[in-house]
Amino acid sequence: MIQVLDKQFETFLPADKIQSEITLMAQKLNEEYAGKELIFIAILNGAFMFAADLFKQITLPCEISFVKVSSYQGTNTSGRVDEIIGLNTDISNKHVVILEDIVDTGITIDKIFTLLRAHQYASLKVATLLFKPNAYQGKNPPNYVGFSIPNAFVVGYGLDYNEKGRNLDSIYQLKAETK
Ligand code: IMP
Ligand code: MG
Repeated sequence: MIQVLDKQFETFLPADKIQSEITLMAQKLNEEYAGKELIFIAILNGAFMFAADLFKQITLPCEISFVKVSSYQGTNTSGRVDEIIGLNTDISNKHVVILEDIVDTGITIDKIFTLLRAHQYASLKVATLLFKPNAYQGKNPPNYVGFSIPNAFVVGYGLDYNEKGRNLDSIYQLKAETK
């Protein structure tokens, strides 16, 4: 059991289990993208560890770009405007694989699909380490999933609780509160 800020978490996915699942995902990608021009787009901050470990096991010639999705108040519209920061590379005619730490409601991935729509990519898929199918309400379900998990809050391996806990090499689940 570990403590992150005010909350207690228990081990959920130990580091070795995460690594073997990433190895399987990399093997799949190595097969399916052979001969294709491949670029990974990793979503910061959460996906940085997953992206690094997966990328090391990709044996194809490929590229990687790290981006942030931000939302700001537009000047003349009522809603917020989304943008992708850091995509300073041309993805036209490339096969794109988005790397996410976790797909929860799916809102983030749907935003990315909308924002990339104008780019003339060859294909666009999503690889996520974690997926919460019971929370998912999006339109672009992940194509490669490391682990489907229940709707409980998790930290570690890039995922944070109020920015803490990203450094843990295993993934921990919030312990049910005891009364
Ligand atoms: P979505 O847009 O609802 O799919 O949420 C995706 C983002 O929410 C992830 O990239 C995470 O940053 C964050 N998130 C969702 N669930 C968790 C969790 O259990 N722990 C930590 N972060 C989470
Ligand atoms: Mg994230």
